[in-house]
Amino acid sequence: MIDTKSQTSCVLETRGLGVRFGGVVAVDSVDFSLRQHELRCLIGPNGAGKTSFFRCLTGQTTPSRGEVWLADTNITGWVPHQVARLGVGIKTQIPSLMNELTVRENLWLAARRTQPARQADDAADEMLERLHLAPLALKLAGQLSHGLRQRTELGVVLAARPWLLLLDEPAGGLTHDEVQQMAELILEIGRTTSIVVVEHDMAFVRQIAQQVTVFHQGRVLRQGAVDDVLSDQVVREVYLGKRAQ
Ligand SMILES: Nc1ncnc2c1ncn2[C@@H]1O[C@H](COP(=O)(O)OP(=O)(O)O)[C@@H](O)[C@H]1O
Ligand SMILES: [Mg+2]
Repeated sequence: MIDTKSQTSCVLETRGLGVRFGGVVAVDSVDFSLRQHELRCLIGPNGAGKTSFFRCLTGQTTPSRGEVWLADTNITGWVPHQVARLGVGIKTQIPSLMNELTVRENLWLAARRTQPARQADDAADEMLERLHLAPLALKLAGQLSHGLRQRTELGVVLAARPWLLLLDEPAGGLTHDEVQQMAELILEIGRTTSIVVVEHDMAFVRQIAQQVTVFHQGRVLRQGAVDDVLSDQVVREVYLGKRAQ
């Protein structure tokens, strides 16, 4: 487990990170850093390199150059289960629930991976409460709507009690109300957890992000407070175009 308490500032850092696919430079020398308990959104137009960058953080992609550091551990080239073992919660868009088990059983199994059975009981109950899933505890995961499924999947990731969360489009496919609920949930989790979110739902981004990083052509185009960045002329031109208000 990583000792984040000794870190005054940076819990996640990339140095000169690059990803190439043949002749395509998907990520081009990105220096990125995240402070403890910071909640950061990665945004940018299609093909900007967000997913490729994110996959280097989770270990799904090995960078072509540069390094990824988690606190004082160099994790470059590690695979996802090694990264997860350091206490990192990873939520990708790949479904992770066991459909034939109940919501509570899914949460309990996830908690049990890192904790003894009695603590797993407590963790599962705590997740049911925190994620407002208690009325659905005994429902089969396979019978959940997309929105409730997303919320349960987040619970599965949180049940292992991560100190850093990496989320890939948590608002994807959610209804307007569900986007709102997911944003509230992530804000609440962010009070005690460092979070990186890749997201292109701008309503969601505006609601949760204090700081955003805008990717464009594999590089960081702008970084800063959400309102400043989204009103920046260059960002509006490359990304938001006429839709920016
Ligand atoms: N597996 C891959 N093989 C080849 N090219 C890829 C692959 N993944 C991404 N790319 C290319 O890398 C660039 C960045 O893509 P991506 O990281 O998916 O951007 P974003 O998530 O911002 O839409 C794009 O030009 C894309 O076509
Ligand atoms: Mg993407």
